[in-house]
Amino acid sequence: MDRYAVIGHPIGHSKSPLIHTLFARATGQALEYSAIEAPLDGFAATLDAFRAAGGRGVNVTLPFKLEACAYADEVSERARIAGAANALTFDGASCRADNFDGVGLVRDLTVNLGQPLAGQRVLLLGAGGAARGALQPLLQAGPACLVVANRDATKADDLVRTLAALGLGHGVLSACGYPVLAQHAPFDLIINATAASLHAEPLPLPAQVFGPHTLAYDMVYGKGLTPFLRQAQAAGVTRLADGLGMLVEQAAETFAWWRGVRPDTRPVIAQLSVPLT
Ligand code: ATR
Repeated sequence: MDRYAVIGHPIGHSKSPLIHTLFARATGQALEYSAIEAPLDGFAATLDAFRAAGGRGVNVTLPFKLEACAYADEVSERARIAGAANALTFDGASCRADNFDGVGLVRDLTVNLGQPLAGQRVLLLGAGGAARGALQPLLQAGPACLVVANRDATKADDLVRTLAALGLGHGVLSACGYPVLAQHAPFDLIINATAASLHAEPLPLPAQVFGPHTLAYDMVYGKGLTPFLRQAQAAGVTRLADGLGMLVEQAAETFAWWRGVRPDTRPVIAQLSVPLT
């Protein structure tokens, strides 16, 4: 049986083994998918051992997404721009890296949630790895404007400059801190890519950023209503979503890359969703 795995540290709570096992069952693919915890200083050695034992590919999660790029022989353009890879495939002695987080997000927004991106006003909160991975796929979808806001505004500036140096985002992409966000408000779509929800912390958002038709999207999942989603709700927003769909869609993209078959994501999203209450 072909072997795959997700590698991270810690890895105990990963939903990837369940998602890929459901995909394999639904598509009739014979594969085994496990979770491997690599020591913090042992990512490459763990991968080498998995390959030597016949492993065909892996998903990579925190904190190894950057190292995954360095490990690979070939890195896709979007993984290079994201500065991180979340999937590797092994082909004999060669290893290719890609990043499906951003396309998973765009697919969840446009297909599952019916949120258009072309011509829309989009606010992306955060300037860490999660935000960086989302930028190029969001830009590709053609928004009217994409504002990156971060607590430390210089980090948002740096991110926008990095993309500009690659010829991306001209006239569309801009950066700012939270206090000046009201000047750009309201937005059609607000995506929380900060770690604030993981720490159950609210964001310093002016209420004007939310309009009556805004979609508020939190990249974290399985936590019900996060402080960010509660802030949106308190401002009158009724369109709320967490990041479970993004997780399942990136998994489906990876599965298709490895196996050549794209599984139906809807039943898996329905099975794993936690109500937003
Ligand atoms: P990663 O690269 O894994 O995404 P990170 O670099 O720690 O992790 O980034 C976390 C993001 O969440 C950053 O944008 C961080 O903002 P700062 O760069 O200003 O630190 C943001 N973040 C974390 N906690 C936050 C909070 N309570 N309020 C606002 N932003 C927060």
